[in-house]
Amino acid sequence: MSRKKITIVGAGNVGAHAAVWAAIKELGDIVLIDVIEGVPQGKGLDLAEASPVEGFDARILGTNDYKDTANSDVVIITAGIARKPGMSRSDLINTNTGIIKGVTEQIVRYSPNAIIIVVTNPLDVMVYVAWKVSGFPKNRVIGLSGALDAARLKAFLSMELNVSVEDISAMVIGGHADEMVPLPRYSTVSGIPISQLISKERINEIMQRTKKAGGEIVDLLKTGSAFYAPSAAVVEMAESIIRDKKRIIPCAAYCNGEYGVKDMFIGVPVKLGSNGVEEIIEIELNEEEKRAFDNSAQAIKKLIEEIKI
Ligand code: NAI
Ligand code: 2OP
Repeated sequence: MSRKKITIVGAGNVGAHAAVWAAIKELGDIVLIDVIEGVPQGKGLDLAEASPVEGFDARILGTNDYKDTANSDVVIITAGIARKPGMSRSDLINTNTGIIKGVTEQIVRYSPNAIIIVVTNPLDVMVYVAWKVSGFPKNRVIGLSGALDAARLKAFLSMELNVSVEDISAMVIGGHADEMVPLPRYSTVSGIPISQLISKERINEIMQRTKKAGGEIVDLLKTGSAFYAPSAAVVEMAESIIRDKKRIIPCAAYCNGEYGVKDMFIGVPVKLGSNGVEEIIEIELNEEEKRAFDNSAQAIKKLIEEIKI
């Protein structure tokens, strides 16, 4: 069986670290592409030189030329500018729309059968732009949101209870923004609902922290945004696709009627396999959760109305 090919567009913090996780997991050969000359080549070579130490077999190529990305199975788009302190995700909208448009055109040209995973913010809008520009079917365009947001919630629950992260399951739906919807009712430790282990007040505080977790890192770093957890989370999605694991991971997927929303990408629980989004799972939401989800959908709708593709 030949190796899969993964292209990562944007060799910055998220892109370069995604390359590391993907290489260590031996997901396939990796192409790292960026507009800056030398950077993807340098990082690609450096990572290839780590392969004998870690013992992974993967061809890693850094490039500025889309010809090298031809026939990729999965393309992860991290190209764009990142949030700085005081900046909201939507401040990034105009610059990143142009970048996503240009990148997607190149991907379609060279890898017409690829599955695209968008990371660039504002996520729910950028994944919509990539889908529109690509003309790909809805199962082949997905965005990173809940995989990261739920990972953060799991980390906070593990810290709170001093238990293994391996036993924690958590769900965050809605947009990848402050209006995201963490779902304590669907969060468990080894199947035990967290409401049996943590007080209501503390659960509320942990959910609030989850919603602002991206901003918490931006405030600490001051010169950019998070990248270890985001890159790990996007590779978790890529792995489920490449190895056809059919994991259920919350992701930004195209909804057209599901969860009562039309023609938009928003975070929902998704089955991820070799066909990309193989199923959107509609979980039951109570009044409060539904209201929060609708509020998040409204915020995304407003941003979509702002963009010119
Ligand atoms: P970064 O600034 O470290 O890297 C971005 C890279 O994109 C740079 O190397 C830049 O040269 C490159 N780039 C810019 N225009 C390009 C183009 N047209 N073609 C190819 N490469 C291009 O930023 P970082 O931290 O890697 O973040 C990347 C994006 O991901 C940002 O928009 C950030 O907000 C977003 N993000 C989204 C997350 C999510 O959960 N969806 C989580 C973390 C970051
Ligand atoms: C994050 O959540 C900036 O969206 C990015 O860290």
